[in-house]
Amino acid sequence: MCGIVGYIGHRKAYPILIEGLQMLEYRGYDSAGISLYDNKLKIKKCAGKVSDLKKLFKTSNDKLGNVGIGHTRWATHGPSSDKNAHPHLSNNKKITIIHNGIIENYTSIKESLIKRGYSFSTDTDTEVLVNLIEYVMEKEKVKLGKAVKIALNQVSGAYAIVVLNTDNPSEIVCARLGSPLAVGIGEGEYFIGSDASPFLKYTKRCIYLNDEEIATISTKGLVLRNIKFDSILTPEVRELSQNVESIEKGGYDYFMLKEIFEQPSSIKNTFRGRFKLDTNEIKISGIENNIDKFLNARRIIFISCGTSWHSALFAEYLFEELLRIPVEVEYASEFKYRNPIIYDNDIVFAISQSGETADTLAAVKLAKENNAFIYGICNVVGSSLTRETDSGSYTHAGPEIGVASTKAFTSQVALLLLIALDLGKKMNIIDSEKYQFLLQELYNLPSRIEKVLESAKLIEEIAEKYYEAPNCIYLGRKYNFPIALEGALKLKEISYIHAEAYPAAEMKHGPIALIDEHMPVVVVATKKGNYDKILNNVMEIQARSGKIIAIVTQGDKEIKKLANHCIEIPEADEITASILATIPLQLLSYYIAVKKGCNVDQPRNLAKSVTVE
Ligand code: M6R
Repeated sequence: MCGIVGYIGHRKAYPILIEGLQMLEYRGYDSAGISLYDNKLKIKKCAGKVSDLKKLFKTSNDKLGNVGIGHTRWATHGPSSDKNAHPHLSNNKKITIIHNGIIENYTSIKESLIKRGYSFSTDTDTEVLVNLIEYVMEKEKVKLGKAVKIALNQVSGAYAIVVLNTDNPSEIVCARLGSPLAVGIGEGEYFIGSDASPFLKYTKRCIYLNDEEIATISTKGLVLRNIKFDSILTPEVRELSQNVESIEKGGYDYFMLKEIFEQPSSIKNTFRGRFKLDTNEIKISGIENNIDKFLNARRIIFISCGTSWHSALFAEYLFEELLRIPVEVEYASEFKYRNPIIYDNDIVFAISQSGETADTLAAVKLAKENNAFIYGICNVVGSSLTRETDSGSYTHAGPEIGVASTKAFTSQVALLLLIALDLGKKMNIIDSEKYQFLLQELYNLPSRIEKVLESAKLIEEIAEKYYEAPNCIYLGRKYNFPIALEGALKLKEISYIHAEAYPAAEMKHGPIALIDEHMPVVVVATKKGNYDKILNNVMEIQARSGKIIAIVTQGDKEIKKLANHCIEIPEADEITASILATIPLQLLSYYIAVKKGCNVDQPRNLAKSVTVE
């Protein structure tokens, strides 16, 4: 989704804004722009990439000014075009704005502004907002901060905005409701970003704005208020622990490949401090501190979207099998709007890599209103989700920049298995032998992933054979079904090949009609995942000449005889074998997308965190 950067201070704003926008490219966007103030306002914007925007700043004169705002737009209202790109300008040409989110009542506001003589040159809701701010300023004779506050009280929807007024260019106003906004604090300077990555290089001190907060920032300081009330708030300043290297490619062609190869270490980080093999102890503070809630829970509901939804589905198999507790898995977007039944002794797990997914946040809000206890599973420290939940655990997978989620997924499912084991022991429902065995299997996971990664070359060769296929089917059973779904999503997202996943037995109820000699079928057929059953399914595909790419356990004999290609994973228990099977599917999608010449890290139409409902 849209990326926001801003700077006010003693340095030249332009390089900070351009580099900041590049740092935010991973969020997904289709146009970019910058407003710089240097005695007069300069706005340059265009459809396309930040590299295209850079070309518009031709001379060093174009790059002057110590205050500015920049934006990468992911189109919502109106197509990607030069005119719809942000920043937008008010009719009096004094106020410039960047915005992430959607103003839902923009049509009625636009109509009333048109009646008052305002004109509009773009299709965007943002241009409406900046003119509303101008109108309020002129009518109420108030300063920018007050005008923004009054205007925001008239809009519904979601926003993170940054506004600059040429009448007082030593001040920037920013506000948020539903879309993330971070402010970096330097010495006599402030940085603004959709997340901290644009300013990590300059400062580690950061404030994350909460919903309905508005900040007026000048080189002299920052004043934080609630949008609805007048009182001044005390900002919570955090010390960030991330470093710039963690958000760079580190020699890999793409972030996605780097993140795939990081999985042995990202999973170790997920586990760090959380279990000791020698004493068989698991210590997850969020679970420990709320154990009564878990022991009294009658049902667990998982809410999430996309890849995180696949983790939730995996957890359904896991929690029902190990904990014997009823589990429901919901798409956050459906949960919110289908009037679900929520009991106050339900535990709602909200899973999100970014912690900024609008659908998930909206579903959490609903569950909270119904008094459910909300437990977050999140990767991004300090994100909105982590502030909305009652408790939770970080996945600690490290920054994930590639739009297609990889290491965040494996960390989510590994953490969910650890949580299930912990709860199983605390609920006295899992026998100690199984507990110890699975803990050992979890411990072995990182080194086994390393082994799987050794198959990268083989997988690249397989990709070579199938990258031109228009369709692909993925099959798996039990734990391998969510893995098959995840594999299909990866292929769709980054290579634009139509891919569908089914529980393998469902194939005969319809999808089998699609199978012929042109159809690649990826089968996750690890040894303990209902192996005999899936063997039958593989025979059915072979009988119809489908091209079988199978993920099998090392030493497999049966499927090897039937499949066109086999990728082996090390011997493991049924659950962690499914986690291992994820890795070849990630690599297969990656190499296919590279072969097709796709932009792997920033696939078309996609955003890293989807901050609109
Ligand atoms: O940040 P979240 O986990 O809440 O994001 C949910 C989905 O938008 C996300 O998983 C999406 O499906 C990814 N592009 C998958 O690779």
